[in-house]
Amino acid sequence: MATRSALINVMAAACLKAARGLKRDFGEVEQLQVSVKGPGEFVSAADVAAEKVLKRELAKARPNYGFLLEESGFQPGRDTSHRFIIDPLDGTTNFLHGLPHFAISVALEREGKLIAATVYDPIKDEMFWAEKGLGAYVNDRRLRVSARRNLADALIATGIPFRDRGDHERYLKTLAPAMRAASGVRRWGVASLDLAYVAAGRFDGFWEFDLKPWDIAGGLLLVREAGGDVSDMAGGQDMLTNGSVLAANPTLHDALRRLFAAT
Ligand code: IPD
Ligand code: CA
Ligand code: CA
Repeated sequence: MATRSALINVMAAACLKAARGLKRDFGEVEQLQVSVKGPGEFVSAADVAAEKVLKRELAKARPNYGFLLEESGFQPGRDTSHRFIIDPLDGTTNFLHGLPHFAISVALEREGKLIAATVYDPIKDEMFWAEKGLGAYVNDRRLRVSARRNLADALIATGIPFRDRGDHERYLKTLAPAMRAASGVRRWGVASLDLAYVAAGRFDGFWEFDLKPWDIAGGLLLVREAGGDVSDMAGGQDMLTNGSVLAANPTLHDALRRLFAAT
């Protein structure tokens, strides 16, 4: 049985509290699909409400820490070495369409380094969590990245840019070789869970451009602590600033790097 630290308990409890509201709201959203007005405004309100709960609960336990919140931005704390990075609802489009695949992502940075993460999927009741140096878990089960070594056997997750977001041409240059090389490519629309699934060995790899720190901070630590490699698409460690991510077990990370470098 995995022993969770006081910090992980605090982060997980905050996620569970925020998830209660999200689950209730998700039930409403399913009803709203057929209404003329649609669920748009309702979902933004659910998102903001979840963020408020997370901020309130975490600030209660760690009153001096700073926050980087998707909806309300950066809120520095008295303790300038710690900050929580939070996405209250990752997978908004899924949520909006009544697709039961979304998550709450909370990460903690100390001196700019990720040290703790919880990524919670309220529908499947899966709490992914990790602490630097102590491993990654889902609920009480230890996680390891997959052991697959050949891209031809690998199932790779990705995120596809949409509308005016991101560089569509650049993305298509990575999708084409991945389609040829891998046994499948999936776009599930929740970057935090894509990374959690890499940590769990469900996906063998993941790549995406133009992500925000709150989409990936929690997931990056999960993959690292599950024995995987993470980098940006250029092979550096600037994922939180340039928003591109490549994650996989070490063998496939290398293979994907070479595959994408050749495009
Ligand atoms: C989105 C999801 C999605 C990714 C998008 C993100 P949101 O976050 O993580 O998988 O492809 O780029 O914006 O808007 O649902 O919190
Ligand atoms: Ca997000
Ligand atoms: Ca979000």
